[in-house]
Amino acid sequence: MKKYQGLSILIVSLFISTVSAQRKPISARVDSLMKLMTLEEKIGQINQYSGREATGPVTRKQTYQLNDIRSGKVGSMLNVHGVKNTREVQAAALQSRLKIPLLFGMDIIHGYKTIFPIPLAEAASWDLDAIRLSAHIAAREAAAAGLHWTFAPMVDIGRDPRWGRVMEGAGEDVFLGSAIAKARVYGFQGDRLGGTDAVMACAKHFAAYGAVAAGRDYNDVDMSERLLWDTYLPPFKAAADAGVATFMNSFSTLNGIPATGNSDLQRHILKGKWNYKGFVVSDWGSIGEMVEWGYASDSSDAALKAITAGCDMDMQSEAYKRHLARLIKEGKADVKLLDDAVRRVLYKKFELGLFDDPYRFCNESREQETLSNPQHKLIARDIARKSIVLLKNEEKVLPVSAKVQNIAVIGPLVKSKRDLEGSWIPRSDTSLVVSLFEGIKGKIAPGSNLMYAKGCSIADTSQADFQEAINLAKQADVIIMALGESYSMSGEAKSRTDIHIPGQQEALFEAIEATGKPVVVVLMAGRPLIFNKVARKASAIVYAWWLGAEAGNAIAGVLFGDYNPSGKLPVTFPRSIGQIPISYTQYNTGKPVKSPDDIKYKSAYIDSPNSPQYAFGHGLSYTKFSYSGLKLSKSSISANETSELSFTLTNTGEIAGEEVAQLYLQDPVASVVRPLKELKDFRKVSLKPGESKVVRFTITKDYLSFFNRHLEWVAEPGNFKLMIGAASDDIKLETALTLVQ
Ligand code: GLC
Repeated sequence: MKKYQGLSILIVSLFISTVSAQRKPISARVDSLMKLMTLEEKIGQINQYSGREATGPVTRKQTYQLNDIRSGKVGSMLNVHGVKNTREVQAAALQSRLKIPLLFGMDIIHGYKTIFPIPLAEAASWDLDAIRLSAHIAAREAAAAGLHWTFAPMVDIGRDPRWGRVMEGAGEDVFLGSAIAKARVYGFQGDRLGGTDAVMACAKHFAAYGAVAAGRDYNDVDMSERLLWDTYLPPFKAAADAGVATFMNSFSTLNGIPATGNSDLQRHILKGKWNYKGFVVSDWGSIGEMVEWGYASDSSDAALKAITAGCDMDMQSEAYKRHLARLIKEGKADVKLLDDAVRRVLYKKFELGLFDDPYRFCNESREQETLSNPQHKLIARDIARKSIVLLKNEEKVLPVSAKVQNIAVIGPLVKSKRDLEGSWIPRSDTSLVVSLFEGIKGKIAPGSNLMYAKGCSIADTSQADFQEAINLAKQADVIIMALGESYSMSGEAKSRTDIHIPGQQEALFEAIEATGKPVVVVLMAGRPLIFNKVARKASAIVYAWWLGAEAGNAIAGVLFGDYNPSGKLPVTFPRSIGQIPISYTQYNTGKPVKSPDDIKYKSAYIDSPNSPQYAFGHGLSYTKFSYSGLKLSKSSISANETSELSFTLTNTGEIAGEEVAQLYLQDPVASVVRPLKELKDFRKVSLKPGESKVVRFTITKDYLSFFNRHLEWVAEPGNFKLMIGAASDDIKLETALTLVQ
């Protein structure tokens, strides 16, 4: 009997100690663990290796280091996914002395199993709820597959479409980019970390990576502090305010110092001014790359500069693993820097519940059930169609009647599947992708005659198949062409000096258009392309980005009118490469162009208008909207007052639709020159035919504020112009507001 009493006392005391340990604040649990750790074990926590599916240049024969994991020399893995794999590798970590579980991270940029539209496409939806849901589904699938962490959202402002990574972000605008950054962080992380249907998010690439010189990836970034604060930092601050768990360094420099070794960014701004408590992971090998940059003399110097500057985890360069212990023992690196980094990493592991159950994300039945959830593709289809932008629709060529008799679909992207997934997907599965051809086939009446010709390839020079396509076009009542980039033409390390539609595709379009029949062009790409001939001669143009697995159904739904397109461009489309970098936030200058006929001594090009091919915020609908009755509750306010701006939006057409009403502001006189307009808010409004709604914005001091030359966030007394637009170049209403002292 005594034996059993002893056993039950032991079990109860074990239970109490476990529960009390779990009830201790996480910071106390971190401190207790840190006290047990050796220097090597601490360094292990900030060392991250990639699994076999490398997403960067494998610097040396980086085998799958299970031995290092078993000896506690690795704190995190990237590119290991699937419950079976993560369970196996986690088991290795639990053989280490202190049994500290690993973090598993991966680039879940626009979906894990269900591939969603690329982020730039989703930004064109201006639908924050849909964007958040897209990130939530991606997180739910990734977490079910054993992942704890996604290296997303990429929140880099992108104003240079030569840069291939513009596809990963939310476009050119500070307000829209910041709003989307928050939506994606909330989508990935849920209301709080620790749920097994959510993952840690990662705001990247810190910072200003989108401004690389000449649009060439990994290049230098040189800009004023004011431009950095006014334009490139706000989406990162929005992500931090939304509680993003981690940040990732950029590969680029900022004003001569690599971001990975930049303490202004990581210590002064992020962990100082913003009081950020998460951790910063380097980009793939970016610590080691400071040697190539000429900022570090060798890998050891790079490790010292990175840990000093605030880079908490080393992705794949092994600089911390190889040098940090010696640097600390030699007194060159302060162990407090290491302790701070390790504490930040361990805190997240506790938050995720990994110490309570290291396998809590490794549930095979949840993986199977989640990854086969049929709802996910319907959600993907919904945001895909909301991301489509109708650029042009002359003589109402669109929508096409499903009863059309003879329809010709022509172009290299008509039957493509892999391209529709875009770049940055964990693994391609084209069996899940609906091509445009399949989407159209599913829409037209059974008796219709659907004719297909590829016409040419995406990028080669041959026109050999033009005639076959022309012959089909001559027989057709409706011609739909699908042109654009291949999936491998945008994304990381995909900068292009020429962003015209590649190959012979525009020549093919001109040959088809020469038949004299109206042509509908669907463009698919990861960035703005230049297509002036198509823009001039096509009867209708639909920009369909790369819309993911449900692309074909979404595009066909728009072409045949099941869904009235509502997308608006999140990025400016230039007429020529010569206009780049380009965005809608232009300045009046001292010599503004007042008339296109008078550009003598004006801020203008002699060979092109200043205006883009398509402006930020542009997007048409199959219906029409009217804007009227603009009111301001107060025409002047003091700094702590607000004024309510309202107007009436009416659907004056015959079909239901959604309009993105955009609020722009100009500060015409300020202590630093301000752009002619800046987006300050927007509403996406659904309206039935004939329906009107009053749209309201509450104007606060914040709407009027900017970073001045001293980097202070200020609203200066004076007059402001408030504009309501259907696009940045389509202002419908405007009024004036005065900020009094
Ligand atoms: C890549 C990318 C980064 C990504 C990381 C891990 O080089 O720059 O965005 O998260 O490596 O794949």
